[in-house]
Amino acid sequence: MTLILIGFMGSGKSTVAGVLSENYVDLDLEIVRKIGMPIAQFFEKFGEAEFRVVEHQVFSELIDSGGVIATGGGIVESPENRELLALQSEVVYLKANFSSLWQRINADKKNVRPLAQNGAEIVEKLYEKRKKSYQGLADLTVEVADKSPEEIAQIIFDWQ
Ligand code: S3P
Repeated sequence: MTLILIGFMGSGKSTVAGVLSENYVDLDLEIVRKIGMPIAQFFEKFGEAEFRVVEHQVFSELIDSGGVIATGGGIVESPENRELLALQSEVVYLKANFSSLWQRINADKKNVRPLAQNGAEIVEKLYEKRKKSYQGLADLTVEVADKSPEEIAQIIFDWQ
């Protein structure tokens, strides 16, 4: 069984995955490895639609790896990925409200997220649009507000 963490940008998917498993797979890093450039550069050169194609390729290759996968916030954008997620039974949604996510996105200077360059209003619309997908595909939802990555990981561990 593969444990798959989903949720919006800034929800802490990679950090929590790292607490759950030393050998977790970070989907964004795998994509960067495959495309040979930072995600922001790929968006600039080829656009979001092409990114979604690569994201789906890499995700479908790794989905049965049996470990822990931290996905990118846009994993629910493609219908193919939603179909893959619907077939899984350990999909965990890290849920937070928009203002706390927005704060965390902006505090994270190391990670340039192309879609987060758009300004709060546009990103909030994206959040509202995706919320139903995250919720609908989740086997477990964890409210991350006021919890440490260790506490979140413990909740997931106890549920498994
Ligand atoms: C994206 C989220 C990013 C990354 C890419 C697109 C999105 O991942 O995959 O920039 O569409 O929300 P994180 O959720 O890890 O920031």
